[in-house]
Amino acid sequence: MTPALPDRIATQFTDSERTLLVELRRSLHRRPELSWKETQTQARLREALMDIGITDIRETAGTGLVAHIPGTQRGGPAVAIRGDIDALPIHEETGLPFASMHAGVMHACGHDMHAAWAVGAGLLLAKQPAVGDVRILLQPAEELGEGAPRVLADGALEGVAAIFGGHVDWRFTVGEVVATPGPLAASTDTFEITFHGKGGHGARPQDTHDPIVGMAAFVSDVQTIVSRRLDPALPGVVTVGMLHAGSAPNVIPEIAKCAGTIRATTPESRALLCTEVERLAHGVAAVHRLTATVQITQGTPPLMNGARAAAWAQDATRQLLGESALRKLPLANMGGEDFAFYTERIEGCFMRIGSWREGRERSGVHTPRFNPDEDALFIAAAVLAESARVASAALHLA
Ligand code: NI
Repeated sequence: MTPALPDRIATQFTDSERTLLVELRRSLHRRPELSWKETQTQARLREALMDIGITDIRETAGTGLVAHIPGTQRGGPAVAIRGDIDALPIHEETGLPFASMHAGVMHACGHDMHAAWAVGAGLLLAKQPAVGDVRILLQPAEELGEGAPRVLADGALEGVAAIFGGHVDWRFTVGEVVATPGPLAASTDTFEITFHGKGGHGARPQDTHDPIVGMAAFVSDVQTIVSRRLDPALPGVVTVGMLHAGSAPNVIPEIAKCAGTIRATTPESRALLCTEVERLAHGVAAVHRLTATVQITQGTPPLMNGARAAAWAQDATRQLLGESALRKLPLANMGGEDFAFYTERIEGCFMRIGSWREGRERSGVHTPRFNPDEDALFIAAAVLAESARVASAALHLA
């Protein structure tokens, strides 16, 4: 028998509301859409919001939506709840009755759950409003790290003083919540380096400036950034994932290229790793009589949960699920999450929401068999709605 939902969660939803949310999640799951292509998803989410009586809905970032739920008082700071809505280019292998109908596209990161629980939080806040206004943000293109900056550029979060969001997490059981202050996800910057030398015959290296040897030295030396320059107590990654050079065994090429990813969990360590990659590329190039062009493309920033926002989310979790529900990530998470663009500007807390149950396969996100437990829908909807109420009350007192 499946364990029942905790009372404080179950009693917040009528049977028909629970059915509505599960059906919403399954219909999104059945028709997953890739980043920036979420048009059916947007239409389906708009319909779901209208079904629960939320009518003040605006489009944002092209394929996203912002729904406005009035508080009990007019004016003052607003609070936002964000659910991301895009899917991944993965072919589903769960065999579920509501499996993806779109070949090669799957909600393998649980964004169908996130979108449905954001609507669920809206439903709860419409029934029992916060002091101030709450915006339900349904955000496209998280997987590309592009949706959040578009939403901010659109001004959809103007007047918002706190923001909450969450992600399904198969490492935690349904009913467990991580809402910790400080680093929660890593920055995801990319580097591309071209080493320019002088090509020639493979038999006469003395007439060339060999960019392959220089690049090989760089790939080796770049490993010393994390081991020798970064504080060992801080997590960081510099990975070279691509090397391209040469066209024949007996030709020394003119150029050699490499590319990789840089991950850090604080703004300071992020800046250090990026600066050091660039410095080392120029230094190693000079030693080998090469020049280097270095391009660092900024991805998502490190996701830093605010101290106040995390405390509000913890309060909400405690009220609904008890102290024992609050868990911590055992180790830093080096994945990225574009919610970080919001927490750079707005006090926020991004939570991990337990979505595994005893007896279920432990298949992680971004795999073809990913299948979170649907009870996580109700837990997250209630925790997010209550976090918004707690935050809104505190912001209006201040
Ligand atoms: Ni995700």
